[in-house]
Amino acid sequence: MTENKTFYITTPIYYPSGKLHLGSSYTTIACDVLARYKRLMGFDTFYLTGLDEHGMKIQRKAEELGLTPKEYLDPMAEDVKALWKKLDISYDKFIRTTDTYHEEAVAKAFEQLLAQDDIYLGKYAGWYSVSDEEFFTETQLEEVYRDENGVITGGIAPSGHEVEWVEEETYFFRMGKYADWLLDYYETHPDFIQPEIRKNEMINNFIKPGLEDLALTRTSFTWGIPVPSNPKHVVYVWFDALLNYITALGYNSEDDSNFKKFWPGINMVGKEIVRFHTIYWPIMLHALGLPAPKKVFGHGWLLMKDGKMSKSKGNVVYPEMLIERYGLDAVRYYLMRAISFGQDGIFTPEDFVGRINFDLANDLGNLLNRTVSMINKYNDGRIEATTATTEFDGSLEEVVTDTVAHFHEAMDKFEFNVALADVWTLIARTNKYIDETAPWVLAKSADDKAKLNNVLYHLAENLRVVATLLQPFMRATSGKIFTQLGLSETSFSIEELAFGYDFVNPVVAKGEPIFPRLDVEEEVAYIKEQMSGGKTVEKEWIPEDVELNLTLPEIKFDDFEKIELKVAEVLEVERVEGSDKLLRFKLDAGDSEPRQILSGIAQFYPNEQELVGKKLQIVANLKPRKMMKKYVSQGMILSAEFGNELRVLTVDKDIPAGSLIG
Ligand code: MSP
Repeated sequence: MTENKTFYITTPIYYPSGKLHLGSSYTTIACDVLARYKRLMGFDTFYLTGLDEHGMKIQRKAEELGLTPKEYLDPMAEDVKALWKKLDISYDKFIRTTDTYHEEAVAKAFEQLLAQDDIYLGKYAGWYSVSDEEFFTETQLEEVYRDENGVITGGIAPSGHEVEWVEEETYFFRMGKYADWLLDYYETHPDFIQPEIRKNEMINNFIKPGLEDLALTRTSFTWGIPVPSNPKHVVYVWFDALLNYITALGYNSEDDSNFKKFWPGINMVGKEIVRFHTIYWPIMLHALGLPAPKKVFGHGWLLMKDGKMSKSKGNVVYPEMLIERYGLDAVRYYLMRAISFGQDGIFTPEDFVGRINFDLANDLGNLLNRTVSMINKYNDGRIEATTATTEFDGSLEEVVTDTVAHFHEAMDKFEFNVALADVWTLIARTNKYIDETAPWVLAKSADDKAKLNNVLYHLAENLRVVATLLQPFMRATSGKIFTQLGLSETSFSIEELAFGYDFVNPVVAKGEPIFPRLDVEEEVAYIKEQMSGGKTVEKEWIPEDVELNLTLPEIKFDDFEKIELKVAEVLEVERVEGSDKLLRFKLDAGDSEPRQILSGIAQFYPNEQELVGKKLQIVANLKPRKMMKKYVSQGMILSAEFGNELRVLTVDKDIPAGSLIG
């Protein structure tokens, strides 16, 4: 670990205003993924999160409950910490802005700016939203209320919250003085605000129209950090809150070694608070003679189909419920995979359950299962690299190298969904490699033993690479994969990751499936029920006047999914001696050898040779069955009956034999 290889990442500090939902957990999980990734890349990493505990909002909330602010806040802080524990958040420090070291450091910073004349005493008169803890000019309001004389009596902030009139003595920060410096800073630090689009918003909507001086203290309530030289004033909650990112590191305290080591760092924030972090925050730091953050990344929101999560809409998803039923890794995976980090994303129960089934149970789970069982079956659980290669090894290893490189690129840009998609490309390629090399065929000949072992080695090694890359996202799952591969290591460095690990004669454990397949209908109904607070949810609307003409009962999608349908080309066909019904087909269905299927359709094809060269549809995974005592039929040919006729189902000539139908 080199001296300057440090990484500092922060979440916003949360308002302790109630139980945190899945949306609030989103940033914390994303930062955790980053922190874990950087640690595995050999960085000395510091991850900060915590609570924003001052301000009028908290004071009023506590009063409503008949509590002092501290009595209200302490249990809340414990609840939040307990949630982060459930989500396996690896923070290095949890700051509360009521911590003494923070309050002292903020007071000092305030006095410094006052002494420098960056802060001056004046009078504020304007609109304030308590819920947002934010001041607004009339023109910034979404809506204004007027009395019969046209005088404005109130209004609504862009967030939808009510504003109230505030008129009081206040200290102002000379923001306007730094506007040019800030524009120049943006210009010379093009990566400071990300994604890029947020930068233009700041410039055009807030800086260009003119930066107003910011009211920095309040006198109408007491729950805040008092200004030492004039204690009837308490410091504005955002000034107090933003400084947490450096006071947590010891800034303005006796031991500021962490501050010296880690600042400047990266502030990860939701898009609605980008303004505070990219305008006020760098200006405050600059005025204090400190560097601005390396980067402020404004991510999107996690939304529901009908907008933001809210209890009144009955659409709130709590992470605890999902974790309890589906496990933590499914939740972390979903949030990081399904949503493009800079943009808004919509949570739907269908999508969530679908991702678990397809990505986790099918793609990843099956690869692990097949690999482990084959290593057990064909080589007594030992993983041995040999020099007997197959023609597919080179391209497979190339995909490993490419995946690792792309993964790093994506992680550096905070494109978590892209990084995961890269890992899944490797998983899909490895699954395909099984089909290409057909280890079960190699297992039939002793001469192919070395080749077989090398194929099995490639499978195990690719899974080790996959699990290594997944560590920041799904620690437990990676651990399970390492264990099933017989590895004693519980973690691997991502920094040193390369194909070619030397497995020291490990015995592969026969493990349980890492993600069981879910019944989609049942689970979607369950999640919807939980979202609506336990009420049974009405089934989706089905047109009542459509009568389905069925001969069999309905089946679930899951049942259908078990059937593998494929395109197969007729190579040869002949009548079966002793039967006037059966035709014996030799078909190319993309298998290592032609497959044989017996089908009772002879009477409909007096000239059976007309079928040669046709491309048919077959059920490929039907259990083989012995017919006429000597023939094994491996599948079924699909056909349609109408009147007294029957025709096999054909497909376009240019669809290759072996293609999956679905
Ligand atoms: N206390 C301020 C931050 C001060 S930082 C110096 C605050 N707190 S908050 O509790 O309202 O929000 C904390 C973070 O949670 C914000 O970044 C916000 O964007 C994020 N989220 C809250 N709901 C969210 C979603 N539904 N989706 C994604 N993030 C969301 O703002």
